[in-house]
Amino acid sequence: MHIKIAVLASGAGSNFKALVSGDTAPGIVDILLTDNEEAGALKLAAELGVEARYMYPGKYRTRFGIREEELWAEYLLGRGVELVCLAGLMRIIKGPLLDAFPGKIMNIHPSLLPSFPGLDAQGQAFNYGVKVAGCTVHYVDGGTDTGPIILQEPVQVLDSDTRDSLAARILKREHEIYSMAVKAHCRGRAVYSKVVR
Ligand code: GRF
Repeated sequence: MHIKIAVLASGAGSNFKALVSGDTAPGIVDILLTDNEEAGALKLAAELGVEARYMYPGKYRTRFGIREEELWAEYLLGRGVELVCLAGLMRIIKGPLLDAFPGKIMNIHPSLLPSFPGLDAQGQAFNYGVKVAGCTVHYVDGGTDTGPIILQEPVQVLDSDTRDSLAARILKREHEIYSMAVKAHCRGRAVYSKVVR
């Protein structure tokens, strides 16, 4: 029995591609949904033969309209999607999607959370001068890059690094750990401990 996965992406879609190409069994990427008609992920979906769809996210820039988020949730539930993977979705998820998929929305973030949440995490870490950067797969709650951590991978910062060379090495690790975390979830093996704040 397959577990249908929806990937939600706004940008280039390299993590989407990694989830399609990687071993996520018994999970299988069923659809790409995007809030951006220009998303590179749409082109990748066509190349990979994965169904893809743009859906209007509402009039806001960094979150969904409530009604629109309800429509996204209804659409995903209607398809029988059981796991939602955010992969560079540039919007906060609030009530309707969280209610529709409790404990079933995952995100990949390019830092070792809880350090450096939010935008340009790689740049934040680089500018801070950390010696070890990395990436995190976590379940999504109502916050920005908060929620129980599933997997993390450290990436050493080299003396020769620029922000971009570091980000490129982190991205490679993202591609590896995202499918590992998705596979673990789909096999009922995603273990996490919730930090109470
Ligand atoms: C990745 O760095 C991911 O960690 C962050 O957004 C970026 C998306 O890249 N959430 P891509 O579209 O998957 O190439």
